[in-house]
Order: sequence, then C-alpha cells, then structure tokens
Amino acid sequence: MTVSELRECIGGLPRVNLGHLPTPLEHCPRLSEAIGGPKILIKRDDCTGLAFGGNKTRQLEFTIAQGLERGADVLIGGAGSQSNHCRQLSAAAAKLGVDCALAVVKDHKSDTIQGNLLLDDLLGASVEIVDVETQELLDDAKDALMNRLKSEGRNPFTVMQKANRPYGAMGYALCMTEILEQCEALGEKPTTIVLCSGSCTQPGLIFGKKALGVDTRIIGIAPIVWSYDIQEAFIVVLNKMSDVLGVDVEFERSDVENTNAYVGERGYGYYTDEGNAALRLMAQKEGILLETNYTGKALAGLIDLVKKGDIGSDETVVFVHTGGTPALFAYSDELLGNK
Ligand SMILES: Cc1ncc(COP(=O)(O)O)c(C=O)c1O
Repeated sequence: MTVSELRECIGGLPRVNLGHLPTPLEHCPRLSEAIGGPKILIKRDDCTGLAFGGNKTRQLEFTIAQGLERGADVLIGGAGSQSNHCRQLSAAAAKLGVDCALAVVKDHKSDTIQGNLLLDDLLGASVEIVDVETQELLDDAKDALMNRLKSEGRNPFTVMQKANRPYGAMGYALCMTEILEQCEALGEKPTTIVLCSGSCTQPGLIFGKKALGVDTRIIGIAPIVWSYDIQEAFIVVLNKMSDVLGVDVEFERSDVENTNAYVGERGYGYYTDEGNAALRLMAQKEGILLETNYTGKALAGLIDLVKKGDIGSDETVVFVHTGGTPALFAYSDELLGNK
C-alpha cells in the first residue's frame, strides 16, 4: 500500500478535526551526543494543540467521531486522576459543544487539584473521583455514569473503552505516514522508533508500518503493567483495524515489541529516578519538556537500550513525544527530590 492509499482508506472513516497536524519533527543533536550516539529526531506530538496537546488528540479525532455518529451529547471517560486522555477529552468535548463526564481513580494524586485534574475542571468536565484500586476497575463507574445520564434523558457515549481502541489507533497509522514523509524531506532514514504506549499509539504505528511495508523497528515502552497480555491486546487492535478498513494485513506476536521494564517498582503513576533524570536531560539539552509517567520513562528506556547496545550508536531513532506535560505540575515534589 502507498502512503496516499493508506490515507485514502482511513479518510473514509468518521473523523472530527481537533489537532494541529502535522506536528514538527526535529533533530536533537545535543541529546544525541549526550547519550552516546544514535541520531535522535523527536516527533513533537506534545504540539498537537488541544489544551497542551499530546497523543490522545489524534486518537480522539476518530474515537469521538464514533460517538457523534450515534448522536452522543455527553462523552464519558475515565482513567488515573492525572490522565492526559481525560484532559484532552474534556477539551475536545468543549470544542465540539458536547458535555464531558469523567470517572477518575482516587489515587495518590487525586487530593490535590493540580495538573490535568485542574485542567479537566477548567475545561468544564464533571469529575467523579472513584475509590477503586486501578483504572481497569473503573468500568462499573463508567457504566453507572452512563445509566444515570440515560435516565436524565441524555445520550451518552463512552469514549474510553477497549472497543474504541482500533479507531483511536487510526490516528497513529496516519502519524506513521507523517513521520516517513518528514524523514524523507530531511534526508533521514529512521531505523527505529521509540515511544511510550500501552493501548493505541504503538498499534497505530505498527499498522502503518506493516501496511506500507517499511522495516523500521518500533519499540514501545509501556507506562503500566496491565493485568492482561499487552502483545495479545495489541494484535486484537491491529486485526480489528484491518477489518474496519477492509484491508488484507494480518498481525502476529512478533509484530509487537513492547516492554514494561521501565514502569518502575511502584508501578503506574509513580516516578522513577531514571525517568526523572531522562526528563531533566531532555529539558537541559534540547529545551523540550517531557513528564514523569510516560515520556520520561520512555526516554529512560531509549537511553538504557543504547547503553546495552540494543539500539546501535549508528542508528537514526525517532522518539515520539506523546505529550503529558501538564502533569509535571502535579509532580513538583517528586521532581525536586522531596519524596
Ligand atoms: C503522555 C502519554 N504518553 C503515552 C500514553 C500511552 O498512550 P496509548 O496508551 O494510547 O498507547 C499516554 C496515555 O496513556 C499518555 O498520556
């Protein structure tokens, strides 16, 4: 498949316009030198433009469209209290003139209204803080929200649900076409792409790669250890994308390279020393801000893989900045070494 054929195919799906696209692709020469070699380019998906941007904007263009097609007037979401997805969903709902109802986990960041939680409120979302252990246990709360809203005569749609992931991933199949075109324009041939991903972003890039027949390695650094097998979950998303688009591309486990080695002992939502060091390095070498839970850990992973020789010093690596910077403000103590 060519780039224009893939774009045309995805172009047939319902979509709303939310992002500032294409996002820039920039060289990081000082970071490359500091980590000992590979040429690093950064794909600035922190610049997608919607209320401080991030990877969810590309996904929401497709997932929200699924709801609006069904006449939704309230969009439901839910995740950790500092969720970037919830913040971008709140902003998208405001922009599109529908309501947003969120159920977020009562966690170690939900007592202080800072970062994304503050922005959810400013953007007009209703936020319910739910006492469950993990975000995987929010389904009941989202269903309860759905039932309550229906009983009030509303037409709610749950955007953040597994069945929507193949649609969200379409945004990243398109991002793959952007990356390849931008690399070509810069005269670069990316050997490896590194990014933080746990649900839609990496599957989208993998889909794009396979549909276009390119051999760039794509390494996903997971921000969370799910209770289920992530490779299997990605393959479900990938095969469903083929179904939805009516194309003959099939996927197997070897297509998915994703590691949870950099989540850290305390798990999702907690900083790691390596992640915080990586984010300071990016900030001080390139003037680009990452954050603690996703992109800092992903860069720590990239640095470690270079150190181990798994990524060669002669390679050209695209690091996808998936956003999340507003969460920095909820982690000031951790970043200043007070915790
Ligand atoms: C900043 C950031 N990076 C990466 C991810 C992972 O994205 P996904 O789960 O869609 O692959 C998220 C969301 O969970 C995020 O907020």
